[in-house]
Amino acid sequence: MSLSNNLNKILIVDFGSQFTQLIARRIREFGVFSEIVSHKKINVTKIIKENISGIILSGGPLNVYQNDKFKFDKKILKVGLPILGICFGHQILSKELGGRVKKSKHREFGLATINKISNSVLTKNFFNQKNISNVWMSHADQVSKMPKNFKVIASTKNSKLTIIENSKNNFYGVQFHPEVTHTKKGKILLRNFLFLICKVKKNWSSKDQKLKLIKDIREQVGNNKVICGLSGGVDSSVVAQLLSKAIGKKLICIFVNNGLLRKNEEKQVVNTFKKKLKINLIYVNAEKEFINKLIKVSDPEKKRKIIGNLFIKIFERYAKKIKNVKFLAQGTLYPDLIESKSVTGSQTSKIKSHHNVGGLPKKMKLKLVEPLKFLFKDEVRKLGLELNLSKDIISRHPFPGPGLAIRMPGIITYEKIKILKEADFYFIKALKEYGLYHKIWQAYAALLPVKTVGVMGDNRTYEHICLLRAITSEDGMTADFFDFPRGFMQLISNQIINNIRGINRVVYDVTSKPPSTIELE
Ligand code: XMP
Repeated sequence: MSLSNNLNKILIVDFGSQFTQLIARRIREFGVFSEIVSHKKINVTKIIKENISGIILSGGPLNVYQNDKFKFDKKILKVGLPILGICFGHQILSKELGGRVKKSKHREFGLATINKISNSVLTKNFFNQKNISNVWMSHADQVSKMPKNFKVIASTKNSKLTIIENSKNNFYGVQFHPEVTHTKKGKILLRNFLFLICKVKKNWSSKDQKLKLIKDIREQVGNNKVICGLSGGVDSSVVAQLLSKAIGKKLICIFVNNGLLRKNEEKQVVNTFKKKLKINLIYVNAEKEFINKLIKVSDPEKKRKIIGNLFIKIFERYAKKIKNVKFLAQGTLYPDLIESKSVTGSQTSKIKSHHNVGGLPKKMKLKLVEPLKFLFKDEVRKLGLELNLSKDIISRHPFPGPGLAIRMPGIITYEKIKILKEADFYFIKALKEYGLYHKIWQAYAALLPVKTVGVMGDNRTYEHICLLRAITSEDGMTADFFDFPRGFMQLISNQIINNIRGINRVVYDVTSKPPSTIELE
């Protein structure tokens, strides 16, 4: 039996928004199954036959009058299902039903206050007692004329038609993004759409997710062997467990020591996976191979590309030795994808080449298996629990594929790696000892490419600056710096300087993401 076809679900039509997967994720949070389909591939005959309870039209970077740039089968508006249009989805819904869209005189980006005009099921409990709600906007166009039989539910100062509805036909349009956390009560609005308007039933859990992913893996890889690049972090560990459940002994994990890991990490990983979890694991010590290629390289993108290419070369080398390997499994997550390239081929701009996505060579012999590529970190953690992985693995801070290479801006040297491993070791150890590790989403030490003057025991020193970064986040897409008590900062600064030769100054990074990223490169 197909696990997803018989479920009642919400269909999300994707017009290329950065947030489409976030809509899907919100729906999963409500225990409901959803499926994303590109606007180019709307199949109305299939929609009628399937058990769909409602449709969401996503946002997107286009203008509704750029007809040559997108395809939209208007018949979808006649299938009799509730429809919620978000941002571009709101505009296209309005235009196709006879309304009008024009360039806004006042573009709205960021937080905006909207005022209630009329009651609606969609906005039950959405406004405060003053009939106001704070929402997050990102648009340059706006609906300037409503279609027939629609009414206004809410407005902002600059856009009158911020929420509109035709409750008879169950058509709803919102100009803002209810799926992002900055829209304070966005979840309430989506919940109203799902349960009060679409009347969808809860039918989705981590267990269902696990079963579906296992089924998808079996379908994708058939009888072939799969190698899995294991790093010991939560993502690749979850992928390894999923694959092990899906194909058993046909899974071979490869753990590559690239010389850019945390102190003693290689020992811990081999111990956990080979000895405790009895997973088929090959340990490859490629420290010299990596460092020799990276030495003297300072450009962040070059570093990422070199590391990505070498990882694949090594995987291919081992795939050849093992024979009959056609697939390489990786723990790519959705935020890695969205920042490396656009998933739909639309205008999301590239931030950096995450090593398991954009850092891969164009011509690769192995096909990729990426079962987590539409999930967010916290969802992967829940899945890990479902797969019986230990709390220790599940709650580990993320560690990037290119490792310490992107935590030492400028050229890479053996000396810098040695110093950085130690600094990171003391920082993480102290976080654990002082009960802070689990309050922080990710923390690390980095080595800045400048030396400064210090004084120790009456002598002048001229040594590196160690930068500490600790952030809180929901999914790594946005982040805030962690507010340490002064006492802890003093302690860790002393520990690092007293124990590590080569560092005479410790600084703390107090930027959020955006405008910075979590890693330095
Ligand atoms: P940034 O620096 O883009 O990081 O804000 C967001 C999250 O992604 C991790 N990261 C990576 N993970 N391969 C990975 O597996 C990579 O190339 C990579 N680059 C960044 C980063 O540690 C943070 O958790």
